[in-house]
Amino acid sequence: MNPITYAQTHHDKFLEELKAFLRIPSVSTQPEHKADIERAATWLRDELLNVGFPKAEIMPTTGHPIVYAEWLAAGPDAPTVLVYGHYDVQPPDPLELWRTPPFEPTAVGDDLFARGASDDKGQVFIHLKAAEAFKATAGEPPVNVKCIFEGEEEIGSPSFNPFVFAHTELLAADVALISDTHILGMDTPTIVYALRGLAYLEVKVTGPDHDLHSGIYGGAVLNPINALCRMIARMQDADGRITIPGFYDNVRDLDPDERAELAKLPFDHATWLEEAGVKADWGEPGYTVVERASARPTLDVNGIWGGYIQPGAKTVLPSEAYAKISMRLVPDQNPKEIARLVADYLKQIAPPAVTVEVRDLHGGDGAIVRRDSPAMQAAFRAYAETFGVEPIFMREGGSIPVVATFQKALGIETILMGFGLPDDRLHSPNEKFHIPAFYKGIETVIRFLEGVRQTGV
Ligand code: BES
Ligand code: ZN
Repeated sequence: MNPITYAQTHHDKFLEELKAFLRIPSVSTQPEHKADIERAATWLRDELLNVGFPKAEIMPTTGHPIVYAEWLAAGPDAPTVLVYGHYDVQPPDPLELWRTPPFEPTAVGDDLFARGASDDKGQVFIHLKAAEAFKATAGEPPVNVKCIFEGEEEIGSPSFNPFVFAHTELLAADVALISDTHILGMDTPTIVYALRGLAYLEVKVTGPDHDLHSGIYGGAVLNPINALCRMIARMQDADGRITIPGFYDNVRDLDPDERAELAKLPFDHATWLEEAGVKADWGEPGYTVVERASARPTLDVNGIWGGYIQPGAKTVLPSEAYAKISMRLVPDQNPKEIARLVADYLKQIAPPAVTVEVRDLHGGDGAIVRRDSPAMQAAFRAYAETFGVEPIFMREGGSIPVVATFQKALGIETILMGFGLPDDRLHSPNEKFHIPAFYKGIETVIRFLEGVRQTGV
């Protein structure tokens, strides 16, 4: 039997195993899930050993553990592929909007619903099942495979980036392989070649040193929530262009050829509106929706709070106001520099009556990967053979900061071989993974590893 046939004849087994992984609520941002994070790491290590990796271990960090595995049977003359993924997930909130429980994976038709189904446990699991298919047929993978799975991706990889720089020998490889992005459709396989970076800030504005009666003091004391709202309004114009001086200084412009290419993507405006659940698109004039959502920088308030937010009315002039603000960045914007620029601007425009504190929560670089390498050609052919149609190239608006880290620390390029779909609802209630995409993913990875064996990277 060949590995593809093995994969095709074990669908039900693979799906049941994936469900076990998805039952573990490995939410990285919430301390009460620390034990679940450990459990997910252990589960993953054991499963790596089960599918045939001779070595798989948990490597503790000051944060959540890293799972490392290697299978170097192909020998020193064969290429080495470094597979990266994350076993942590976003919080499932708001819980009441889930139609099935987030940590009780449920298949409805061709979709498997669960937090982490697509982002990223289902896509991580693809690589384990590809390895299993080689083990069961050829005995071992055709190339050397190293796996590195982290539990902090959704919180900005605070331990992972230093780990990579400290373990460059352990992680040495010829190319990295990541399944944590999406394809445009089952008949439109897609290879992502660019990702945005991120800078994430928390802002605290303090007015009076205690809450005040809004009748006694209102009108004579500046309300910090009002002040914060005005400050936020001054960071961006109504069309989404960011008005902070210097913000666009290092933005790499899209060249006309690339714009022409992006314009040819099979983008359907009506479908897009429906997927996003909005009445109209919005954003920077002069750029298409595709460009705005993947190749231009952004500024968004992720959350804002302060004062009285319980039912009913309370007349209060609050002491504090908060906001979480993120900027999606494009090459060559530097997250640390942007964070500093934005923090300085906020302090500069703050009215004298309030105090502003800004915390830099996390950030990561964007990346553009090479498209002309033999490894990229192998990926192209693997998608084409598996899906029966050639893949298209696309930029992605989300962030996978490790791609830039691998370029810098290990000097290697990444192949973004994703299998999510645009309506997977990542980070939202009712996240799902399309089960046929899961199965096709396994086949694509098998063909990719075989291809890389033949052509090199
Ligand atoms: N899988 C996503 C990245 C992604 C998002 C790919 C959208 C394709 C489409 C990843 O898990 C993620 O959410 N990353 C965070 C990174 C951040 C916390 C540094 C993101 O983009 O918000
Ligand atoms: Zn995510």
